[in-house]
Amino acid sequence: MHKDVERILFSEEDLCKRVREMGHEIATDHAGQSLLVISVLRGAAIFMADLVREINLPLEMDYMAVSSYGSGVKSSGIVSIQKDLSSSIEGRHVLIAEDILDSGLTLSYLIRNLSSRNPASIEVATLLRKRTRQQVKLDCRYVGFECPDEFIVGYGLDYAERYRNLPYIGVLKPEVYASAN
Ligand code: PRP
Repeated sequence: MHKDVERILFSEEDLCKRVREMGHEIATDHAGQSLLVISVLRGAAIFMADLVREINLPLEMDYMAVSSYGSGVKSSGIVSIQKDLSSSIEGRHVLIAEDILDSGLTLSYLIRNLSSRNPASIEVATLLRKRTRQQVKLDCRYVGFECPDEFIVGYGLDYAERYRNLPYIGVLKPEVYASAN
């Protein structure tokens, strides 16, 4: 385990098993369709890469980058698009792959924004949903794990851009982020 990690919440095996289940469920639910899977850079890229390999359907992948104005820790809900999709989503079955749903403000903005582009359908698969009271109500069809409201890193999730490459999801030791403030 990395020296800055206090404990592992979801091991590499847990993640692999759950992502496989999610992929199979998505493929079953969408049998006969082709999907456009969209991920939001940067955190969700690792989840998306693993998820799409478990979805046995014709699919395309596209990426958006957004930034959220706020304190840097909590998002404000004011989101700006840094990189937009490469192609039109009109008439497509869209699946947004997100790594984590925290306040829900990023996803809620994305759903609103993408819905206005007239897709045939739009659904969300999030690997993690934080148990927090200040969460926007969102229709999230696929949820990997509910997770505690703690400072977590790994499998795409960062602290100050580090730890994204850990193969598991763990809780960061408080002294790591306390020492930076
Ligand atoms: C994270 C995560 C979600 C968002 C969730 O991205 O990937 O997009 O925060 O938070 P919310 O539900 O409170 O809106 P972040 O802005 O940290 O960027 P990153 O993906 O580059 O790490």
